[in-house]
Amino acid sequence: MKQLIQKLTDTFSPSGYEDAIRDVIRSEIKGFADEMRVDALGNLIARKGKGGTRVMVAAHMDEIGLMVTHVDEKGFVRFTGIGGVYPRNLPGGRVRFMNGTRGVIGLDGSVVGNDLPALDKMFIDVGVSDREACPVKTGDVAAFERPFMDLGGRLVAKSMDDRIGCAVAVEALRALKSTSNEVYFVFTTQEEVGTRGAQTSAYGIDPELGFSIDVTGWGDTPGQRDFDMALGQGPAIKIRDGGMLSDPRIVDWMIAAAEKNKIPYQREVLLGGTTDARAMQLVRSGIPVGCISIPCRYVHSPSEMIDYADVQNAVKLVTALLRPPIKLP
Ligand code: CO
Ligand code: ZN
Repeated sequence: MKQLIQKLTDTFSPSGYEDAIRDVIRSEIKGFADEMRVDALGNLIARKGKGGTRVMVAAHMDEIGLMVTHVDEKGFVRFTGIGGVYPRNLPGGRVRFMNGTRGVIGLDGSVVGNDLPALDKMFIDVGVSDREACPVKTGDVAAFERPFMDLGGRLVAKSMDDRIGCAVAVEALRALKSTSNEVYFVFTTQEEVGTRGAQTSAYGIDPELGFSIDVTGWGDTPGQRDFDMALGQGPAIKIRDGGMLSDPRIVDWMIAAAEKNKIPYQREVLLGGTTDARAMQLVRSGIPVGCISIPCRYVHSPSEMIDYADVQNAVKLVTALLRPPIKLP
């Protein structure tokens, strides 16, 4: 599965520009789904099974990125963020544009000492001396460039958020030889700019229940507070985040499946942030939802770290949830 994770995280697809990652995922699940389609917002929808409870499982395939706001006369590229781009993660970083152009992020000379500058005090240097020679223009998009790193039990890459969720969904679909349910695996678009792909795909599918698979934060490095989550302690079953209260019936269903199958899990109470499940919950006249989270250190930096055993246990849990008939009380 490490190879699959590397393949997914090596692909560049910021929000709104998911063509490349969609092609990769489509080729990985070809032959495992009963039916595949792409909707108007670019969501890749793969159905497995027919006739049982309609379940939607969402993993977002977009990643945070940068968009050019203008190029100055010296050829320095000014930019804004696509999704939650934190200034402190940027200086010295490298980026790659969709047309292959690469560059490094520099700081305006007016930034003094250790001040944390805003994005408008940064620029991308693509190695040219004037605007005419600059290979990118206003509106072009880029993503972090950082190679995948295998530390044994822990894996590090850009866009673990949420290619790791995509990897879990791909593996679960492959492992799900048969199911009593009608399962829709949705590889969603534009999550990082506000769970937009999940909203339209959930409307179209009209599921009876669902959950997202996404990363969450971590509490197990120096100075972290108010978050009881550690890498290697199992996937997390979300109880709430900043935008959603999981349906308690979904939480109970997930916990029962984990305990029955002896899969380690953690209980997640996240104060900020949210996932595709929020959009699913509020679509049409409302849908019972929850979320399975992969604890991830350094989220939204170019080096996001996950624990490989957590990922494998997440695949087991998702498969255990989807195989037998689902009946919520
Ligand atoms: Co994110
Ligand atoms: Zn995410």
